[in-house]
Amino acid sequence: MKKLLVTGSSGLIGSEVVAGFSADGWEVHGVDNNMRADFFGPQGDTRSVGAIR
Ligand SMILES: NC(=O)c1ccc[n+]([C@@H]2O[C@H](COP(=O)([O-])OP(=O)(O)OC[C@H]3O[C@@H](n4cnc5c(N)ncnc54)[C@H](O)[C@@H]3O)[C@@H](O)[C@H]2O)c1
Repeated sequence: MKKLLVTGSSGLIGSEVVAGFSADGWEVHGVDNNMRADFFGPQGDTRSVGAIR
């Protein structure tokens, strides 16, 4: 099985990359430090989409 590491995996682009490659059968690992919450406040918090901190 092909493996993929996605940095920023909870962000706009990263989450779509995770979903797309997962659907194609890749083993996908994501890393995201939720920096979005620092930049944009509570509305930018992506913990609900499974960020790994
Ligand atoms: N959205 C666009 O149209 C677009 C177009 C061209 C380029 N880009 C670039 O692509 C990248 C991602 O864009 P996006 O729209 O998905 O942004 P985004 O803010 O939605 O996602 C970025 C993610 O990276 C995470 N992150 C930040 N620093 C991190 C670190 N040190 N370790 C782990 N995770 C970290 C954030 O928490 C966030 O979830 C950015 O560099 C952006 O400038 C975006």
